[in-house]
Amino acid sequence: MKTPTIFTLIFFLFIVFSWSCAAYVDDHVDDFLETYVHDHVDDFLEKSGRDNVDGFLECLKEEFDNYTSISSLVYTPINSSFMSVLNFSIRNKRFMSDSTPKPLVIITPDKESQIPTIIYCAKKNDMRIRTRSGGHDFEGRSYVAEVPFVIIDLLKLSDVTVDAEQKTAWLGAGATIGTLYYRIAEKSRTLAYPAGFSPTVGVGGHFSCGGYGILMRKYGLAADHVIDARITDVNGRILDRRSMGENLFWAIRGAGGASFGVILAWKVKLVDVPETVTVFTINRTLEQNATQLIHRWQYVLPKADPNLFLRVVARRDNSSQDGRNVTIRATFNSVFLGGIDRLLALMHEIFPELGLVREDCTEMSWIQSILYNTALPINSTEPLLNRFQDNVGYYKGKSDYVQKPIPISGLEGIWRLFYEPEGAKAEILLTPYGGRMAEISSSAIPFPHRAGNLYKLHHMVYWEGKDAQNEDKYISWVRRLYSYMAPYVSKYPRGAFFCYRDLDIGVNNNEGETSIGQARVWGTKFFKKNFDRLVHVKTRVDPKNFFREEQSIPPRRQWTGKDDI
Ligand SMILES: Cc1cc2nc3c(=O)[nH]c(=O)nc-3n(C[C@H](O)[C@H](O)[C@H](O)COP(=O)(O)OP(=O)(O)OC[C@H]3O[C@@H](n4cnc5c(N)ncnc54)[C@H](O)[C@@H]3O)c2cc1C
Ligand SMILES: *[C@@H]1O[C@H](CO)[C@@H](O)[C@H](O)[C@H]1NC(C)=O
Ligand SMILES: *[C@@H]1O[C@H](CO)[C@@H](O)[C@H](O)[C@H]1NC(C)=O
Ligand SMILES: *[C@@H]1O[C@H](CO)[C@@H](O)[C@H](O)[C@H]1NC(C)=O
Ligand SMILES: *[C@@H]1O[C@H](CO)[C@@H](O)[C@H](O)[C@H]1NC(C)=O
Ligand SMILES: *[C@@H]1O[C@H](CO)[C@@H](O)[C@H](O)[C@H]1NC(C)=O
Ligand SMILES: *[C@@H]1O[C@H](CO)[C@@H](O)[C@H](O)[C@H]1NC(C)=O
Ligand SMILES: *[C@@H]1O[C@H](CO)[C@@H](O)[C@H](O)[C@H]1NC(C)=O
Ligand SMILES: *[C@@H]1O[C@H](CO)[C@@H](O)[C@H](O)[C@H]1NC(C)=O
Repeated sequence: MKTPTIFTLIFFLFIVFSWSCAAYVDDHVDDFLETYVHDHVDDFLEKSGRDNVDGFLECLKEEFDNYTSISSLVYTPINSSFMSVLNFSIRNKRFMSDSTPKPLVIITPDKESQIPTIIYCAKKNDMRIRTRSGGHDFEGRSYVAEVPFVIIDLLKLSDVTVDAEQKTAWLGAGATIGTLYYRIAEKSRTLAYPAGFSPTVGVGGHFSCGGYGILMRKYGLAADHVIDARITDVNGRILDRRSMGENLFWAIRGAGGASFGVILAWKVKLVDVPETVTVFTINRTLEQNATQLIHRWQYVLPKADPNLFLRVVARRDNSSQDGRNVTIRATFNSVFLGGIDRLLALMHEIFPELGLVREDCTEMSWIQSILYNTALPINSTEPLLNRFQDNVGYYKGKSDYVQKPIPISGLEGIWRLFYEPEGAKAEILLTPYGGRMAEISSSAIPFPHRAGNLYKLHHMVYWEGKDAQNEDKYISWVRRLYSYMAPYVSKYPRGAFFCYRDLDIGVNNNEGETSIGQARVWGTKFFKKNFDRLVHVKTRVDPKNFFREEQSIPPRRQWTGKDDI
């Protein structure tokens, strides 16, 4: 209906004005068209979206011999469960609002063999794909796009099989790290995996962005221990390590899956941990020398025994001991791979200022330390299997790398920002590097931040639902913190952690191509010199750039045959 209306009106305008000045007509037709099209662009998009969906569903019907076997896995907005399936794995409420662009279709495949057909039908109908495993992307990129798109939600491809003899495991990409930990602990108390904290994080996104946790100083990243994988490429081929080749296998261990295909499964090498580990958590406020302790921590931890993981989280605290209403509370949170006695001796030697005493420490198994760090009771591992989360919040995060200790005055400036109203629920996390992290080559996988980095900084701001309308205030606060940090953190490029995705540092053009030079701006922050090899891999495996999103790696232009830097 819209199109004839436009033409009728243009024709009408043309007749009315054709006797007068031609320029006048041109100007006004343009104005008219601009306003008209602008007002109706949503309708147009919606309509084209609908065409995509019809074609896409039609294609699935044609391509699947038995469509009944897949129709119960296909959700469109007419299905009453569409919104709950969409919401189920959203982990940032910022992207759960009515104005967040929604997918046209969600599919939850339960067999790997279904995925090539879904890719084929999406390509054929000009629909972009968002692959979602655990949904923890900081910027919601696994379930949000500005173009017509379908979500492939892998939550049903989540089997985890552990071979304790071989110390390996196969993981469906939709599995959570909680399930991985649970399945390992079922078989052994002394096997573990060096991945993240939150049990609901998906291995599809987490292993492909690097992935770190309490074992990083001893063993490196989650991606460092991947030994095989299966992926569906843009041509619908299911490839393993051998058939995808070492370049693509290298790329998906740190540069994300979204640039390269749909990752179906990982094979990983498990690591050894002692029967007993020791945990502690100590709070220190400014009145208890928090600033001096953090300052000292910067010199101590990056050089410490790799069995010691000790991170710091600093937040504002409204109750202060000396009569002021606000202070900063630094939480020193540790897991040590060994018993209490060794830990106390070590801490006394390297960090006596913290004042760690036996009463602060608890010995437990490694799996219990995972529960402890998630604030779960340590007597039951069952909650690790639960991927439902009802305490989803609003937040924005950013990251930095610190290569020289920040002076006391620099830390004090951070606290001043935390005293601003938007800092009420903000936090800054300091994660120590060194140990194994400093030994692995910065080109072993795309994640480049190895030797030379003392620690990673994670800037986070949270807000409440009642402030959802004011999110800009909070987001600009965290951007201000980020600007403030510039003199104290890595430079040229200013490093960033890809797992803490941050669209502020640059995005692909929504339409048309993105030049390699443009993508290099954020690409080198995430991947440093590895960016060029990633472009090379991308150009080989997906030259037409079907698998693309805001921060995917662009391919080189095909027709020039040379670098367009
Ligand atoms: C509460 C919380 C805690 C976190 N804790 C840690 C932590 O301790 N350590 C750490 O390193 N990081 C942590 N992160 C960051 C986390 O590692 C990344 O957000 C990671 O990408 C999440 O993976 P996912 O599968 O859950 O995310 P998703 O949102 O599903 O995916 C993230 C990205 O990967 C793509 N992707 C996902 N699966 C596939 C696949 N199978 N094939 C191809 N592409 C795919 C998505 O399209 C998207 O671009 C945390 C994040 C949150 C929200
Ligand atoms: C099609 O799939 C459904 C569900 O998986 C199954 O019950 C049915 O028997 C299949 N039909 C044929 C003809 O294979
Ligand atoms: C969604 O609705 C369609 C049409 O009624 C139906 O064929 C399909 O099975 C439904 N999907 C689910 C997941 O129930
Ligand atoms: C999903 O989120 C949307 C947007 O906030 C909300 O309107 C809707 O009620 C939610 N639906 C379900 C089933 O949780
Ligand atoms: C540290 O402070 C937080 C917030 O006040 C509190 O919840 C936690 O129990 C404290 N931890 C210890 C070990 O004192
Ligand atoms: C703080 O540090 C000073 C000097 O470094 C020391 O004298 C004081 O006892 C410390 N205070 C606390 C509460 O540890
Ligand atoms: C501190 O006070 C602010 C403002 O009154 C409040 O929003 C915030 O929740 C409080 N923070 C803590 C940790 O109690
Ligand atoms: C501290 O809080 C109390 C009660 O909320 C208030 O009366 C007082 O003015 C505050 N003091 C400062 C220094 O902000
Ligand atoms: C674990 O401990 C909590 C209290 O600490 C208790 O309520 C719960 O029943 C215990 N669970 C198991 C499985 O022992």
